[in-house]
Amino acid sequence: MRIDIVTLFPEVCDAMMHESIIGRAQKNGYIEVNCHQIRDYTTNKQKQVDDYPYGGGHGMIMQAQPIYDCCLDIIDKAQNAGHARPRVIFMTAGGATLTEEKCKELAQLDSILLVCGHYEGVDERVIEALADEEISIGDYVLTGGELAALVVADSVCRLCDGVLSSPEGYEDESYYTGLLEYPQYSRPEIWNDAKVPDVLLSGHHANIKKWRLEQAENRTKSRRPDMYKLYIDKKQKTK
Ligand code: ADE
Repeated sequence: MRIDIVTLFPEVCDAMMHESIIGRAQKNGYIEVNCHQIRDYTTNKQKQVDDYPYGGGHGMIMQAQPIYDCCLDIIDKAQNAGHARPRVIFMTAGGATLTEEKCKELAQLDSILLVCGHYEGVDERVIEALADEEISIGDYVLTGGELAALVVADSVCRLCDGVLSSPEGYEDESYYTGLLEYPQYSRPEIWNDAKVPDVLLSGHHANIKKWRLEQAENRTKSRRPDMYKLYIDKKQKTK
């Protein structure tokens, strides 16, 4: 999987993508993340990337040309490096909300290109010219698309082969199975007067599995009734 991030803050994105699990996966060659500076593609002396909105209104709008040229260059480079044409995704508050299903779909691809807007938005014409889709990470507005792109990159990368030590690493996780995850405990056995549930110390694998499923179901039912309904509907259909 190759991920390219187009941004005004490549150092910020790069720093995140070189730490911890994702950083290790890059070092081991399972994924490749490249961050690109939009400003490098400006054609004016001041390297200006934004301008006033036509029709008035507050704030500045990111201009189409530098983003367009930057993306075309990356698409070219990715293909020359033997990758498929990247799926081009603009991070916008008005996009479709990110779900684990979408992450699974993106993790099957060979190459994705995430474009981060800033200021009050991006000239619509470059979105129309390039975007395969727009993704939002939730119903709130960020000052820029960088945090959103990092969320997408992180949640997609962890589903790619070799990134986590074993598939169970994500198959048990919240959202993957349609349930929230069961509670987890580590040493010590008693902390702050609170004891680890006995069943987890029993060594009885079938009972542990059963307890974890019950916990996951109860949690989902009380915290996310919308998810629980989908889970029950699916369970009944596959019976
Ligand atoms: N840019 C601004 N807000 C955003 C959001 N919620 N998701 C993705 N990109 C954004």
